[in-house]
Amino acid sequence: MSAPAAVLAGLGGYVPPRTVTNEELSRRMDTSDAWIVQRTGIRKRHWADPGVATSDLAVEAGHRALKSAGAGAPDDIGMVVVATATPDQQIPATAPDVAARLGLGPVAALDVAAGCSGFVYALATASAALVAGYAERVLVIGAETFRPFLNPADRSTAVIFGDGAGAAVLRRGTSDEAGAVQSVDLGSDGAFKDLVALPGNGSRHRSTDRAPHPDDQYIRMDGKEVFVHAVRRMAQSSAVALARAGWRVDQVDHVVGHQANLRILDALARQLGVDRSRVVTHIEQVGNTSAASIPLALADAADQGRFQPRDRLLLTSFGAGLTWGSAALTWPEITLT
Ligand code: COA
Repeated sequence: MSAPAAVLAGLGGYVPPRTVTNEELSRRMDTSDAWIVQRTGIRKRHWADPGVATSDLAVEAGHRALKSAGAGAPDDIGMVVVATATPDQQIPATAPDVAARLGLGPVAALDVAAGCSGFVYALATASAALVAGYAERVLVIGAETFRPFLNPADRSTAVIFGDGAGAAVLRRGTSDEAGAVQSVDLGSDGAFKDLVALPGNGSRHRSTDRAPHPDDQYIRMDGKEVFVHAVRRMAQSSAVALARAGWRVDQVDHVVGHQANLRILDALARQLGVDRSRVVTHIEQVGNTSAASIPLALADAADQGRFQPRDRLLLTSFGAGLTWGSAALTWPEITLT
């Protein structure tokens, strides 16, 4: 039986032009191409040039997604949701600026802060708004500019994160259409908030009236602990999203997980019982782009012609918070620009 649903109508990705190879990093810090490839799968990432902020990448990706959604799409966009852990500023949110620069008029615009799970959280926010009838089309963007928040003295984070943005246009449609979101699962556990953190810029720190320690201005991560939580939570959340969609795991054509580490994606495939050939990977080219990672991986795989209309996709993500989220959707008939 068909029901109101969010339907994927357009997609676009953008990474800044500057490529940073593992070799380049190994000239700057005590690391090597062999270590990075073996432990993470990453071969290169893109870093935004000085002066380029998250909104700049978001506008590029948003523009491409609007184009992919077809002529006239900007006219009926009713909401812009920007998922980011690296907003341009503390105040205001990044989304209103992005909406204005895309010429979308006086639309609803908000940021979603859910770390690397941000895109799935934003997708869920957009789906809810569409199903509730608050908007006919929503532009969802995951965008990050990590370079300024990477401690050059911390090789465990500096080699992992990359900059980029991925965007999707969702429209109000029905669950039987190709591209329809079939289910969502979201979760969090704040007891582990210190596992991935950037404490220096918030009200907790400011309330002490002490200048933040220089290290607190950079992202820090307990990689080993995060790894274990990531695999477990993405597997559990995937199972919930699949159950809500009424899909068996063997019916999933493509698993598009958060691109944090190739070994995490391998372990996830094993836990889910999914053949590795059905797992989409993009981390090799861009590193961990946090909230941008899933839409960038989708855009890359779509560009390679990997998806067919009505293929079944499982998106699953995990990030700082801790947060996690999954969504089941079918692939639409869309054209990327
Ligand atoms: N180059 C060379 N050596 C490095 C290194 C680097 N870039 N980073 C860490 N090492 C070293 C460590 O110092 C350690 O050395 P030691 O054994 O002498 O102490 C060794 O490599 C192993 O470090 P460890 O942290 O145990 O490595 P790991 O296999 O866990 O890989 C991560 C580290 C960060 C790649 C991995 O834990 C990971 O991907 N975690 C999940 C991250 C994630 O999902 N983030 C998403 C949420 S934002």
